[in-house]
Amino acid sequence: MEIRIEKTKNPKIKPDEDNLAFGKIFTDHMFIMDYEEGKGWYDPRIVPFGPIEVLPSLSTFHYGQAVFEGMKAYKNPDGKVLLFRPEENMKRLNQSNERMCMPPIDEEFCLEAIKTLVDLDRDWVPAAEGTALYIRPFIIATDPVLRLKPSSSYKFMIILSPVGAYYPQGINPVDIYVETEYVRAVPGGTGYAKASANYAASMIAQAKAEEKGYVQVLWLNGNYVQEVGSMNVFFKIAGEIITPELDGSILPGVTRDSVIKLLQSWDLPVVERKITIDEIYEAAEAGQLEEAFGTGTAAVISPVGGLDWQGRIIKINEGKMGELSAKIYDTLTGIQTGKIEDPFGWVVEI
Ligand code: COI
Repeated sequence: MEIRIEKTKNPKIKPDEDNLAFGKIFTDHMFIMDYEEGKGWYDPRIVPFGPIEVLPSLSTFHYGQAVFEGMKAYKNPDGKVLLFRPEENMKRLNQSNERMCMPPIDEEFCLEAIKTLVDLDRDWVPAAEGTALYIRPFIIATDPVLRLKPSSSYKFMIILSPVGAYYPQGINPVDIYVETEYVRAVPGGTGYAKASANYAASMIAQAKAEEKGYVQVLWLNGNYVQEVGSMNVFFKIAGEIITPELDGSILPGVTRDSVIKLLQSWDLPVVERKITIDEIYEAAEAGQLEEAFGTGTAAVISPVGGLDWQGRIIKINEGKMGELSAKIYDTLTGIQTGKIEDPFGWVVEI
């Protein structure tokens, strides 16, 4: 399929790179492609960024049949534009599609679409420390009917946003509220899919945590630890680095997988297994909880400075960023931005 390109006649003024928020400003162009049952995906096009016209009966509005991805493009010191493991996001998008009864995309073609769009808007990729061009591919169900069933038509879109740090705290450690009233996902549910509805379901606990003065929540399933905020989570206990295993209720994060591979390449003991909140508190009491951090595309590495579990408050590494978290952050962002060598073959130049 050929991607039709309609360039904007009114390019926007680019924002100040040193004061970028997260996802508030969008570039000049966006990608759109339609799907109809029996016809497949058709009419891939890049058009000026702007509103799309839809009917109020659009099934996505009512039943939330929608999935998305989050990726970043970085500018290296020579001004080249780099993507980080983009094929992993395309693979995961199809896993999400399958879970949400949505049609698969052609992963190679959609990656080409991302590259074509980012190339067209490459002047929007910021170069300042801690910034990137956030790439948001997403798919929505577009049947204008209220019957509850998988839609027979969809739109795949990609929008781009120059971003700074996701959390205002940047990479400073954040205190976390351990959520025991609400759950994000359980095995058999949609937790492993990047389904928009998962994020809507998480908002009430996030709001509650913020009301109590915390920045994020740690999600549990029973006593088992799942994720922190919208990120995967790692704990360093007595020298061993533990992250909850992918049991179907946890998002298989690309940053999570990259951190595991980095740790393995450093010959550090990293394990994916079930871990309970009791075990974490017992380790803290025994002085063995050395570090904790979240991992995600938007937030990169977010150190956890303390936990509040039903009023039991613990500090981790005296509320400071740990040595290992700092090393992972420096190495990962170094590879992503082309500042240090990429021995894994993760970086893709556009
Ligand atoms: C990401 O990390 O890319 C996400 O999709 C999380 C989102 C809440 C910003």
